[in-house]
Amino acid sequence: MSPDQPLRWSSNGLRVRISGTTRLVAHVTPLLPAQKLRKTKVLHSLKQLHEVGAEEIFTSALRPREQQFFTDLGFTLHEELILLAHNFESPIDFPTRPSRKSRRSDWDELLKIDNAAFSQFWQFDDLALAEAISATPRTRVRVDAPDTPSGFAITGRSGRIGFLQRLAVDPHHQRIGIGRSLVADALQWSKKRFVKELLVNTQINNSGALSLYESMGFTKKHGGLAVLQWSITS
Ligand SMILES: CC(C)(COP(=O)(O)OP(=O)(O)OC[C@H]1O[C@@H](n2cnc3c(N)ncnc32)[C@H](O)[C@@H]1OP(=O)(O)O)[C@@H](O)C(=O)NCCC(=O)NCCS
Repeated sequence: MSPDQPLRWSSNGLRVRISGTTRLVAHVTPLLPAQKLRKTKVLHSLKQLHEVGAEEIFTSALRPREQQFFTDLGFTLHEELILLAHNFESPIDFPTRPSRKSRRSDWDELLKIDNAAFSQFWQFDDLALAEAISATPRTRVRVDAPDTPSGFAITGRSGRIGFLQRLAVDPHHQRIGIGRSLVADALQWSKKRFVKELLVNTQINNSGALSLYESMGFTKKHGGLAVLQWSITS
């Protein structure tokens, strides 16, 4: 791949991000509803990714209708996810620990926390972090401590729908209430801005996160999400 090649762009109804150094992996996020995506255009983007050397392409977490579009193009299941939602009809917790707005200078620390907390496939690099922060028109990024953070949450909203985009706590500081307090902050922020539903997704086997979200009033939604993959070399 040429050093001049951009690592992130949007075209043909897709946002594309490339990660990896020795082995390039591309991540595609549809920017349009499935019925507005055009197969020929998306195939053109996949071909471009092949040309720049991407060996594998993963989708973002897709709803069933979007999954069908990509399955028809030859994508296969990589991982199923559970989608949960809080509808603010039950009382919401207040944060029990101080937090502050994250600064750009925290990003290295956030990436360290993220990479320690998540398994390799899910780990953010700086482009993925930037993408999560800019995915919605309004975003709140909170860290748990005044100085060096041990946990962070990224919450976005678009109209009346909120998205808990990322939550991670350094494994050395887990189970002391940081995650719960950051989720409470996300809920309070969303409620004050009249969000009707705060959505979050997590891996099916992530029992810690599932039990955290369910204990805070989130419930599972039908028709979960899935990440699909396309192996260029196969
Ligand atoms: C999920 C995560 C954010 C929880 O953060 P945390 O600071 O450890 O959570 P808390 O200490 O506030 O725990 C709150 C509740 O979550 C649940 N929980 C958290 N970790 C758990 C685990 N390993 N096993 C079972 N339940 C767990 C418990 O119900 C816990 O309440 P309790 O301690 O009173 O029993 C943290 O484990 C993490 O960063 N995991 C990796 C990244 C991740 O999965 N992010 C969220 C999914 S996208």
